[in-house]
Amino acid sequence: MSDDSRPSPAEARTESRVAAVIPAAGRGVRLGPGAPKALRTLSGTPMLIHAVRALAASRHVSLVIVVAPPDGAAEVKSLLDAHALPGDTPGGSWGRTDFLVVPGGDSRQESVRLGLDALPPEYDVVLVHDAARPLVPVDTVDAVIEAVRDGAPAVVPALPLADTVKEVEPAAVPGTPEPVLATPERARLRAVQTPQGFDRDTLVRAHATVTENVTDDASMVEQLGLRVVTVPGHEEAFKVTRPLDLVLAEAVLTRRRLNDGF
Ligand code: C5P
Repeated sequence: MSDDSRPSPAEARTESRVAAVIPAAGRGVRLGPGAPKALRTLSGTPMLIHAVRALAASRHVSLVIVVAPPDGAAEVKSLLDAHALPGDTPGGSWGRTDFLVVPGGDSRQESVRLGLDALPPEYDVVLVHDAARPLVPVDTVDAVIEAVRDGAPAVVPALPLADTVKEVEPAAVPGTPEPVLATPERARLRAVQTPQGFDRDTLVRAHATVTENVTDDASMVEQLGLRVVTVPGHEEAFKVTRPLDLVLAEAVLTRRRLNDGF
């Protein structure tokens, strides 16, 4: 499509349909032994269900594709059905949000690509959201969508850092001293979260082009030489990685229950 035939941001705003891909196929070894991370419970509900609800809470998101552990797609599908509300369609939707479940791969990147492969053609904005960030507020989801609809090919929620960051020469033996190589200026650094939002064609091209292992999708778009922008992230969008994060997530849910009565 030539630049002239591209819809203006206002036209794109009304036309674009938004889907979310949730990679949930990781084992989550850093949390310790037990079920795959996405299936660990927070306040009695699997982390993945919290994450799907967080995305489905946006009125703009009409499809959620969950990428399940390679041998766990049937289990994840039953889990989504088990957490449906009265009036939802078993096997396919919660309210106005449809869902699909596909088996994942060996790396996060491969899991996201398998999710993208299942994306129906009518969706032109894609969010990629870690199942391991179950508590992202809907305002953060909507801010990412709005920035993509306003014309950014890739958008990441980001927060300033509290800690100073050092670049080191990683030690061969974990826990032994590591030489410090540099101290990047903290004011120019951001910690990035998910959902990351993309123009669909851009993300598909990034996954087809970049083969080296990366830890987020936006960095693949950077490698294409395209513009990636940030919007403000949220402290409650943290990634549940270590045992202490489970304690923090429970505390956030308790505070929400007290505040909202849900
Ligand atoms: O390992 P990490 O915490 O970076 O994983 C981020 C997200 O990617 C998690 O939601 C995890 O379930 C997912 N993942 C995946 N497939 C893999 C590895 C990780 O879907 N093979």
